[in-house]
Amino acid sequence: MRAALVSGAGIGIGAATAKILGRDGYHVFVSDILPDEGEAVAADICADGGSAEFLALDVSDSDACLAAIAAIEARFGALSALVANAGIAPRAAYPVLTDEKWDHVLDVNLKGQLRLIRAAAPAMSARQQGSVVCVSSIAGAVVGWDDHWHYSAAKAGITGMVKAAACALAKDNVRVNAVAPGFIRTAQILSEENSLGPVGLAAAEGTVPMDRAGHASEIGEVIAFLLSDKASYLTGQTIVVDGGLTISL
Ligand SMILES: NC(=O)c1ccc[n+]([C@@H]2O[C@H](COP(=O)([O-])OP(=O)(O)OC[C@H]3O[C@@H](n4cnc5c(N)ncnc54)[C@H](O)[C@@H]3O)[C@@H](O)[C@H]2O)c1
Repeated sequence: MRAALVSGAGIGIGAATAKILGRDGYHVFVSDILPDEGEAVAADICADGGSAEFLALDVSDSDACLAAIAAIEARFGALSALVANAGIAPRAAYPVLTDEKWDHVLDVNLKGQLRLIRAAAPAMSARQQGSVVCVSSIAGAVVGWDDHWHYSAAKAGITGMVKAAACALAKDNVRVNAVAPGFIRTAQILSEENSLGPVGLAAAEGTVPMDRAGHASEIGEVIAFLLSDKASYLTGQTIVVDGGLTISL
């Protein structure tokens, strides 16, 4: 059986992606720092006839990432699919964007993805098969987001890292891509404190040519496509999934 790991899969885009990969026949490692939510997602996948388990994993811990992936490889040989999704978006206007706040967001959102790819890639290369999808954002990859310079920098950084990793691993038949979601209805965007909040999202939906926010599953389906052999000649790309928002600006 092919093994897939999704980081930040307890809620939101990661949870939706994990369920889609369960439907597609992977054994899914539902990894997160939220045990109850992650266990529930794994249970849902199993209840739907799939195969999954929760994996407690903080992507800011290099040793834990290495150990988790080594344990998976001991059972499955290598990961077939890796989705580096975990991310945070705390608001910090630039006058109060301290070094600590900057480092924390870069550590989770950018280095957290490196930690997973770096750990998983050698076995994928040895097996000459594997696919990685990183979750970027239109914020950083395409447009800016005020009060989120650190987030935007991390998400732009993902697009560069994905290109470099894709170059390095292409000869081993390992593909690396990213998705850049627009407005997706999850806890992150519904946070008043850190993002648009419900009222802000309702207003923002009117600026989207498709006139609505996206569903987490609409990102998950694109991720599943990028992971699949249907995307066998596609690597190093960041695919924008935003209902037409950024092409209309
Ligand atoms: N929702 C949107 O509109 C939107 C748009 C563009 C990009 N994104 C990106 O999509 C990804 C998923 O976002 P979401 O909207 O589902 O957010 P969310 O807040 O609903 O879910 C994020 C998940 O990441 C987990 N997480 C946070 N820190 C972690 C850590 N250190 N280690 C492991 N897991 C951790 C959380 O526990 C949570 O389960 C993020 O990278 C986010 O930046 C979201």
